[in-house]
Amino acid sequence: MTRKLGPSTRSVHLKSNRDPSTGAIVPPIAENSAFAYDTVEQWRAAALGQAPGHIYSRNTNPTLDCFEGRMAALEGAAAATSFATGMAAIHGTLMALLDAGKRAVTVKDAYGATYLHFTQILPRFGIECAVCETGDQPAIEAAIDRGLDLLYLESPTNPTLKVLDIARLTELAHLQGAVVVVDNTFATPLNQLPLALGVDVVIHSATKYLCGHGDALGGVACGRQEIIERIFRYRELTGAALDVHSASLLLRSLKTLGLRIERQNHNALALARFLEELPQVARVHYPGLAGHPGHEVAKRQMRGFGGVLSFELRGGFDAVKRFLPRLEFAYLAANLGQVETIVGPPSTTSHVELTDEERRAAGINEGLIRYAVGIEDIDDLKGDIKAALEAL
Ligand SMILES: Cc1ncc(COP(=O)(O)O)c(C=O)c1O
Repeated sequence: MTRKLGPSTRSVHLKSNRDPSTGAIVPPIAENSAFAYDTVEQWRAAALGQAPGHIYSRNTNPTLDCFEGRMAALEGAAAATSFATGMAAIHGTLMALLDAGKRAVTVKDAYGATYLHFTQILPRFGIECAVCETGDQPAIEAAIDRGLDLLYLESPTNPTLKVLDIARLTELAHLQGAVVVVDNTFATPLNQLPLALGVDVVIHSATKYLCGHGDALGGVACGRQEIIERIFRYRELTGAALDVHSASLLLRSLKTLGLRIERQNHNALALARFLEELPQVARVHYPGLAGHPGHEVAKRQMRGFGGVLSFELRGGFDAVKRFLPRLEFAYLAANLGQVETIVGPPSTTSHVELTDEERRAAGINEGLIRYAVGIEDIDDLKGDIKAALEAL
């Protein structure tokens, strides 16, 4: 009888976690550029994929195999391919799946560099891109109904935590014969499984929650065998391979993903409720709040609401500049998903590349702060925010 295992069990108890040659539970780091063969015939068979074996680490590597296997298991995918960064995964996936003359649809609130792919990079290759208002579901549906080859979604979005109905939009895109790609970085497979909602490819910036400790960059794409092979092919030809040391750190980090996400979900919800009551805070964006416009959809498609929230200070950017340095238990930095709380205004983090006008169009208020909660004790975080606000 096959029982369906939970994600935390899968992240520590996959058979493939054990190194077959030594039994090592922690996978060894295969620091090899190339792999040697006794005969030309054996070498050639491995190179042609007719026999198992690695040739050169830009193509495949045992440590990367291990990370990819574990990510596929966590996302419920048949296969996964890793990348040097999240942006390399996004770029590689889009370039592998789109050609000149194709049409892609996405939303304005995708991660800043992703948005710039749709507005600046893909159009240069003759790919038509429709970038829709994230909160306008009828507009997204209309853009899909006009015909498309690829739908690219992110949910919850960065930094205003909008929620898209993944199953509904995927169904509409599939009716047009399109492929659907979802960036699951904010949710992680612990909180949301896009493939189970019908999506074709799930992408992560592994730099964020999958790593969790701020010491490695990485990216990954997960999906069906045939589609991942196309994405892998683009990566092996263009060279954005994940470093083996980063893969090893990511493998270590995945073992505690369940524990970290549970704590970060809990901290973020408690803080969102706390912030809602503070007079200096004009608005809190968090899909776990009953008043959030995407709450009902989030409840349907997510198991937890994630560790990122954002809130608007009444005093605008001036208040933001005075408030942030006063926080004792939050780093002013560009990352998110770490065990340490990390904060910043979108104009210095996710949307630094955008003009003021583009930020305004994306609904990014100048008093907005992205607060990526860590695993600290919740009372310390609440006290820290309260003290910093009172000192303003
Ligand atoms: C949602 C999301 N996707 C993709 C990326 C890009 O990932 P990376 O920085 O690993 O290239 C980020 C980075 O912040 C992100 O937040």
